[in-house]
Amino acid sequence: MDVVHNSDSLRQQLHLLRCHGERVAFVPTMGNLHDGHARLVRHARGAAQRVVVSVFVNPLQFGAGEDFDGYPSTLDADAELLRELKTDLLFLPGIDDLYPGGAAATARVIVPGLNAILEGAHRPTHFDGVSTVVAKLFGLVQPDIAVFGEKDYQQLLLIRQMVADLCMPIRIDAVPTMRAADGLAMSSRNSYLDEDERVVAAQLYKTLLDVKAIVEHGERDYAGVEAAACEQLAVAGFVPDYVSIRCAADLAMPAPGERSLRVLAAAQLGAARLIDNIAISIS
Ligand code: PAF
Repeated sequence: MDVVHNSDSLRQQLHLLRCHGERVAFVPTMGNLHDGHARLVRHARGAAQRVVVSVFVNPLQFGAGEDFDGYPSTLDADAELLRELKTDLLFLPGIDDLYPGGAAATARVIVPGLNAILEGAHRPTHFDGVSTVVAKLFGLVQPDIAVFGEKDYQQLLLIRQMVADLCMPIRIDAVPTMRAADGLAMSSRNSYLDEDERVVAAQLYKTLLDVKAIVEHGERDYAGVEAAACEQLAVAGFVPDYVSIRCAADLAMPAPGERSLRVLAAAQLGAARLIDNIAISIS
């Protein structure tokens, strides 16, 4: 695996990797890699001849008071895992590569609508930071395919929208959420949980499964189901931000008769803000 630290070296290495017309699959990450990321890289490995992974903790997607400064960094272990997964190229850009004039002064890519609901309502600048950095990374890596996890379902839809709206010739592949044995979705932020909180954390997935079962058994009072799920989380020890049942395709409020739904939730547990989501199918 080659490791490059700036955009000039990236360009040179990509030129070599593509010299026989090989296709490139790209996995953007913020590092602190876990089994969920490994699943994304394995998917990329199966989707194209070349795999490029980036590690960059993007200041633009963190709000004031969020965990940018304390975001876990495990670069040596990340590189080791990526070598085992047969990654071709690891891109570790510096802040100047992505934000040459400073993050505050950079041109932005904004995906209206999806950037303002659910996570966007609770983290108002978050998705503009995500779409901006991902557009820049796409411009540098110029992948044929990019791989994102369903764990960040709203992010996945937002990136798909950005690629479609800006006519970027990139296929966006989605990979199902990787879960621990008790159902907790793998996330770098799980490391903020203490031992007791880690046990409680599994209740988030359990609550989503309860919502799914209730709706699939015929309940159509979604507001009532969401309120009961928030109450269930609060009783377990979370401070819920939302539990919301939405259309799977675009996260709009579901019209009566909508069959393909997604329930999404975000809740604070100790120092960790956890998010998760699962599909609901009405037959
Ligand atoms: O999902 C993430 O880790 C980040 O939001 C991403 C896509 C790498 C952009 O910084």
